[in-house]
Amino acid sequence: MDTQVGIVGAGPAGLLLAHLLGRAGIDCVVLEARSRDYVEQRVRAGVLEQGTVDVLTETGVGDRLQREGMVHHGIELRFGGEGHRIAMSELTGGRAITVYGQQEVVKDLIAARLDAGGPLEFEAGATEIDPSGGVVRYGDGGELRCAIVAGCDGFHGVARAAVPEAALTVYEREYPFAWLGILARAAPSSEELIYTHHERGFALHSMRSHEVTRNYLQVAPDEDVEAWPDERIWEELQTRMALADGSFTLDEGEIFEKGIAPMRSFVAEPMRHDRLFLAGDAAHIVPATGAKGLNLAVADVRVLARGLRAFFAHGDEAGLDAYSERCLRRVWRVQHFSWWMTQMLHRTGGDPFEAQLQRSQLDYVVRSRAAATSLAENYVGTELEDA
Ligand code: APR
Ligand code: PHB
Repeated sequence: MDTQVGIVGAGPAGLLLAHLLGRAGIDCVVLEARSRDYVEQRVRAGVLEQGTVDVLTETGVGDRLQREGMVHHGIELRFGGEGHRIAMSELTGGRAITVYGQQEVVKDLIAARLDAGGPLEFEAGATEIDPSGGVVRYGDGGELRCAIVAGCDGFHGVARAAVPEAALTVYEREYPFAWLGILARAAPSSEELIYTHHERGFALHSMRSHEVTRNYLQVAPDEDVEAWPDERIWEELQTRMALADGSFTLDEGEIFEKGIAPMRSFVAEPMRHDRLFLAGDAAHIVPATGAKGLNLAVADVRVLARGLRAFFAHGDEAGLDAYSERCLRRVWRVQHFSWWMTQMLHRTGGDPFEAQLQRSQLDYVVRSRAAATSLAENYVGTELEDA
């Protein structure tokens, strides 16, 4: 045996798992297909649930997050030319979210792993995994033998594909739209995130710091990013986010990152096959509207790390046996929430009946304390023990 746990993928799931196992004295090796620079620069979402912030802080990788993260106690839902605040913290007994880029979490976890002297191999992509033998083949003829393999290699990785097709059930939905996302050197135009429902399509105003904003526009799924010069992006954002009384203008600035991401819901069950455990995007994808992808990956590896601690300390397999079921309960709650936010906020092909239902739903969410509380408690995230 070369190591106790072979971790495939150095995204948030693989890196946090390595960090948690390292603290428990469990030996692991992380194999990542891309370069360090690539994974540190890859722009993704940026909303951390309270539970995600807590685990990073409690395990010593939250210093920069505590300094630079922006704590938010509410979000705005904007539709019909008016804004409505959902007072998340007030509705959830004080829970909040923190805005901090996913690639910043990745940088902090890589630094911690390298400081701890733990093996972390970049440009060492896994090519083949044997879930029963506990063998990972990687790079040019490398081979790693392990007691357990953690498949943390994202949606397009090799881990899920290593499970025999007959052993997996897949649930999937593709949406007839995508998100065009930008990062711009412009101060946020609001203290909180603004989720906008507009007849021309969804728009989202988010941020990364007091100097950088992150904005998204609903576009066609096959949209070409070349069709969106900077001026067109700002014009469309201003139109969709405008308030009826004319009091809102989005601050504009240099756009230094632009990309299109598909919107998809996906679950593969179970999340374990023999010695192979799937975690994060390798097992499930949620549309970004609920801001849950990273948080779900973190929840998975917390459950897995707990199971592995008991297994390696006293051969207790109960936690590992319960892994898939425990994770899936949260996965499906989050799938529902992410789908619900998505269908409520996006333009869906102009069916007038559906459009009326959306408006009624939005009205209800901002008028009813019960409905707002339901949105808020899902958005800030439940405790690990609760779901
Ligand atoms: N071998 C090794 N590494 C691989 C392989 C492979 N064959 N294939 C992919 N990888 C790497 C990718 O390069 C990436 O760095 O696995 C990593 C997977 O990371 P993520 O895609 O970030 O997935 P995960 O860690 O599960 O994090 C989930 O990421 O996609 C977002 O919205 C999602 O926020 C969520 C988070
Ligand atoms: C982001 O800031 O990137 C972000 C925020 C909220 C979302 C999705 C993405 O729902």
